[in-house]
Amino acid sequence: MRIKETAKFLGAVILISFFVSSRESKAIPLRGHNVVIGTAVDPAFLNEPGYAETISREFNMVEAENSMKWETIHPAKDVYDFREGDAIVKFAEQNGMVVRGHCLLWNLHVPEWLASESKINQVLHDHIDAVVGHYRGRVFAWDVVNEAFSNDGSLKASRWYDGETGTAYIARAFEWAHKADPSAKLFYNDFDAEVLNVKSDAIFAMFQDFKRRGIPIHGIGFQTHLNVDGLSIESFKANMARFAALGVEIHITELEVSVSKKSFPRQAAIYRAVVGACIAERACTAVQVWGFTDKHSWIKAGNGLLFDGDYKRKPAYAAVGQALSVAR
Ligand code: XIL
Repeated sequence: MRIKETAKFLGAVILISFFVSSRESKAIPLRGHNVVIGTAVDPAFLNEPGYAETISREFNMVEAENSMKWETIHPAKDVYDFREGDAIVKFAEQNGMVVRGHCLLWNLHVPEWLASESKINQVLHDHIDAVVGHYRGRVFAWDVVNEAFSNDGSLKASRWYDGETGTAYIARAFEWAHKADPSAKLFYNDFDAEVLNVKSDAIFAMFQDFKRRGIPIHGIGFQTHLNVDGLSIESFKANMARFAALGVEIHITELEVSVSKKSFPRQAAIYRAVVGACIAERACTAVQVWGFTDKHSWIKAGNGLLFDGDYKRKPAYAAVGQALSVAR
């Protein structure tokens, strides 16, 4: 009797593990849900075992983590270096992915030669023309301006700002980018502006003003660099709703959730809630993570991404898959 029961029990265990493992192997990849789901990439790792395979299996959008920033793509006044960016675009095209461009105007990661330039507006105009023109028709959306506001809602002082009043220099950058590729969707991208706060209020006021004046701005990028505290989903939804009402698209552009290893279930819940909130908002048209393996993350030891250092799926991976599978 005992032996029979044990055998039955073992049989059940084997059956269950068979179903679990066959479900795992047949799991729908993240890009199989009819939602635009992207990751930041570094072309230096494309030849590393597991890296390119995981990207092409799981994602249908990529963005250069650093390759299209000024210091990489425009190292000297008359020198453009498109090699890294081109490698990413080629990889994307070979794997049926779209490409987000990042970024054209930011106060960080700019080359030293810029400091001695006096005609900064002309230099910026030339840069936008050259870079957007080079990728015309191949980069579907650009972060034109990155992180121009401080968390208190004021505009940051930067070399681009050049002592002018208000957002005039930002508006001009959008106009130049639109001229260089009229079909590209043009985004303003920032962090800590996901929820209702003084920073998102200031950004929202800029969007209202630009929309009223016909400045070609098409989307807001919420970077969404989070930690174990997550964010208020209600406030995130309310913030998305007001941008949606202006007729702009929303992309989650740099999602990661830094935690200690023991907090992986909590990390998964935060990922599920953030991606779920995007899926629930019609205007939210893409979700992107800022890297996908904890092996290569700009936040060292942040454990913030969907795969561990050995490219194994973490609980957050399943959570994102579940959130993406909810019909829109
Ligand atoms: C980060 C990259 O991930 C790092 O590799 C680099 O050293 C610094 O920049 N906001 C942005 C991104 O818009 O470009 C930043 O990327 C992260 C914060």
